[in-house]
Amino acid sequence: MARRRAQLVPWRVAGGVADEHANADAVVRETGWVFNNETGDDLTLSDFVMSGNKEVNAYMRVFGMNDLDTNSLSILEIGSGIGRMTSRFTKRFASVIAADVDAAFLERCRETVARHGEPDKLRTVHVADGHSIGVPSDSVDAVFSYITLQHCAHEDALQLTSEALRIVKPGGTVMLNYRTWVPADVVLQPAGTLVRALWKTKLVGPRIARQRWATRLGWQANRVAVDEVLSLVSQSGRSCREVLVFHNPSRRNLLASSPATVGGARPEERPLPRANKSHWWLILRLS
Ligand SMILES: C[S@@+](CC[C@H](N)C(=O)[O-])C[C@H]1O[C@@H](n2cnc3c(N)ncnc32)[C@H](O)[C@@H]1O
Repeated sequence: MARRRAQLVPWRVAGGVADEHANADAVVRETGWVFNNETGDDLTLSDFVMSGNKEVNAYMRVFGMNDLDTNSLSILEIGSGIGRMTSRFTKRFASVIAADVDAAFLERCRETVARHGEPDKLRTVHVADGHSIGVPSDSVDAVFSYITLQHCAHEDALQLTSEALRIVKPGGTVMLNYRTWVPADVVLQPAGTLVRALWKTKLVGPRIARQRWATRLGWQANRVAVDEVLSLVSQSGRSCREVLVFHNPSRRNLLASSPATVGGARPEERPLPRANKSHWWLILRLS
């Protein structure tokens, strides 16, 4: 059983809403904004999956995955949600493991992939405690996570990072997206703390967790520094051919206080104009 954590409340509530609807288009209209921030009465599952297809294609290209024969590789997606990106992964990879803290999302994910992807390639794994992934060590070629580690409790984000480092095969690739601090956090962080405190209350919590404005504030739970993650890479003992940190070009010197080498490689920064200013990506190519 997962510990009672405020960060998990909106996912459970959205998962409950996803569970209430038989119609996949209705699920996207009710809960799709949780994943891609789009709203509207005309939204369909196809539109939703299309947004994921575009993002998967763009990220695979910038992270160098198009240089590999991904059709023969496996990938683990941490925080798959209802399969917005997962369908595309099943089209591009030999096998896909979709992992999420919410079991109802995973059920929807299987349905999304059945309609828009290749369901025979999909396996789902429930991250019941928010930080342990029941997948063997050294068993997948690539690990990917997008807009998930910023919504977890800080400790869970770091433990999920360690899980990614444990599960990836030698020679594999890790692609993890995090959120770091921005000036607006002076307002956003206290507001988020307040919303998360309200989520825990039995009376108003579940109702507030269905509100888009509150959820967007409350789920901004976690900022992670580049150095924290790089020190996990060093502690993992994994050796790396390449350690890259991608971020919006307006951010500078995210590696200013990083060690000269991490896992045997020199960490390097790369500009990524499509990245949100508060986001950064860790890309590791293991030896
Ligand atoms: C904003 S959604 C992103 C989903 C998907 N990556 C996408 O872009 O559509 C974040 C997802 O992370 C999942 N999540 C949140 N905390 C998690 C945790 N501790 N472990 C695994 N999944 C988690 C949520 O249930 C949700 O499906």
